[in-house]
Parts: sequence; structure tokens; C-alpha cells
Amino acid sequence: MVLDVDTGIDDALALLYACASPEIELVAVTCVGGNVDARQVAENTRAVLELAGRSDVPVALGREQPLVKRLKTSTETHGPRGIGYAELPPAHKALAADDAATRIIETARSRPGEVTLVTLGPLTNLAVALEREPTLPGLLGGYVLMGGAYRAAGNTTPTSEWNVYVDPHAAKAVFAGWAAGADAAPRPLALGLDVTEQARFVPEHLRHLAIRAGVQPLDGGALGRVPIEAVGSVAENPVLRFIADAVRFYFEFHARYDGFYGAFIHDPFAVAAALDRSLVRAQPVFVDVETGRGLAHGMTVADFRGLKHRQANLDVAVEGDAEAFIERYVERVGKLAAGRSGVAR
Ligand code: BDR
Ligand code: CA
Repeated sequence: MVLDVDTGIDDALALLYACASPEIELVAVTCVGGNVDARQVAENTRAVLELAGRSDVPVALGREQPLVKRLKTSTETHGPRGIGYAELPPAHKALAADDAATRIIETARSRPGEVTLVTLGPLTNLAVALEREPTLPGLLGGYVLMGGAYRAAGNTTPTSEWNVYVDPHAAKAVFAGWAAGADAAPRPLALGLDVTEQARFVPEHLRHLAIRAGVQPLDGGALGRVPIEAVGSVAENPVLRFIADAVRFYFEFHARYDGFYGAFIHDPFAVAAALDRSLVRAQPVFVDVETGRGLAHGMTVADFRGLKHRQANLDVAVEGDAEAFIERYVERVGKLAAGRSGVAR
């Protein structure tokens, strides 16, 4: 698997899930500007991989600006550095010498049909890669993205989801380019807000995670609300401490805008669905992206009724088993955390 990220709290949770999943050989992580600027994304990404004991995974820097627009970051959602209230020591490992698009293309070429690409941020790097290598869809074993709002309301504008809104031109190019270069390639699987907003991670899940990691938490509410120093041995486990400090910020954001104290964990759901498609039910649909400056800027326009008579270019997830996913998340990442308990940070 190659992950393209804009780390980001839920991207960080997705990286931990990937590191905790025995079926994944994580061959590279590529970074794109999105939740925070691309250099901060690369810092966060390397620091999270080191936290998980995976500093061996190469991390490549990608595009710092969207194709056409200026980058808009989301520090209100993810915190000034993208990881909420968490703090991680600077990563030791240097960035890879090549750029993200090159890394994606070369990895796919080196193992044709074997690599699954999962994008968790704006599609800028992938659009660049596709422009350089139009046969990329056929070189990959599969492509899964977190992005779009197909029948759901947007989370950035009333009609638009964040990853697509940040770089709608890239999303449009990827959706169109995929269909053109696909031939024998499977359609991308798209997890939009329709399903990712079913994955609500709440303090009780944090408590289960702590128990699975073998530490003694207070109640789940305390883990989510009070400064982490106050919750005993959780503070001593570096992975749990990171997660608790990061998601506390995310919980507060969702409490302000979404009416519950918890968080949608979009990105890890996409990684989990890439590993196990039975977690979602998808429908083939033709999707285009509105790039005009009007009210619907960044909207993923999905032709569910086939009114345009265009061939489907995405498998859009329309239902998801969020409960099974979160259970698996707690089990896997809790186990990973248990294994990191003695690690000094
Ligand atoms: C997406 O936007 C970002 O803020 C999250 O990391 C996720 O990838 C959800 O709309
Ligand atoms: Ca993201």
C-alpha cells in the first residue's frame, strides 16, 4: 500500500491503523498540502511513523499548492500544526529524495498490479502523477480515496467535502483521467462523507483503546476531557497519549459544529475499506467535479440516476459498517499501543 496524506488528526489515526494492520506492506507515504502545509504534513507523518516504530517507511514530499487555487488549510479543525493538542518530537528520518508523484509512479511501475494507492487528502499529487503517467490506473492493483460528498451535505461548504474543495481541479482531473487510462483497471472506490460520517469515534472508544493497550484509564469521558496528565498510566503510553491529545482537539471541534462530543474518523475508514471491501457497499456511478466559482464549487456531482448516460468512473460507497470498522480500529491500534508501551518519547 502507498498512502497519500495531509496529516491531519484523522490521517494520523489512519497511519497508525496502517502500521497496526498485518496485511499491509506499507511501501511509502507521500505528502500533500491540505489540512496543514505540505512541509508540516511531512513532519507530522514522519513523527507518527516513528511513534509507531515504522521509521523505515519512506516519506516523500509532494505538491505544496493545489493545481490552480491557493492552499487553504484547516487549523481550526486539526490544530495549528495538524495534530490537535498532541506534541511529538521531531522525526529523525530524512525525507525521501524524490517527490510524491515520482514515488507513486515508480512504486507502481516496480510492482505492476500489486500496489494499492489510498489517498486521504486533496488529489493534487495524484493528478500530477496521472498527468506524467496516464497508464498509472492500470499499473496499480487498486485505488481507494477518502473524498467527496455524494448524497450527503458538504463539510466545507454546503455542497463540498474538504479534500475535493481544496483542489477540485485535481479531483476532476483524477476522476476523468482514471476513466481514460483505466482499460483493465478496477474503478476507484470512493468513501465520501455519506459513509465516513457514520464512523463516530467517541470517548468510550478511547477508553476501550486504553484497555486494549493494557493501561488503566479513568472513564472514557475523563480521557476525552481532562488534560492527559491527569489520567494516570495513559500518559505513559506514547501512542495512547498521542491519540488522546490529538482527538481531544478533534472532539471539541465536532462538539462546536456537528453536535456531538466525538469525531468522524474519515481517513482510517478508507484504509480499513481498502483492506476489507466488505466494510462498505458501493455503487458504480459517473461523478464529475464542479470547479466553477459559484455556490457548488468543489461539489462532487454524482449521476446516481444515469441521466447523463456516461460510463461509471467511481465505485461510490453508499453504506458502511462503521461499528465493525471502529471495533477493528480499537483492537488493532490498541495492540500496536500495547507493544509501544515501554518506548521513550
Ligand atoms: C477529510 O478532510 C480532512 O480534514 C480530513 O483529514 C479528511 O481527509 C474529511 O472531509
Ligand atoms: Ca485527510
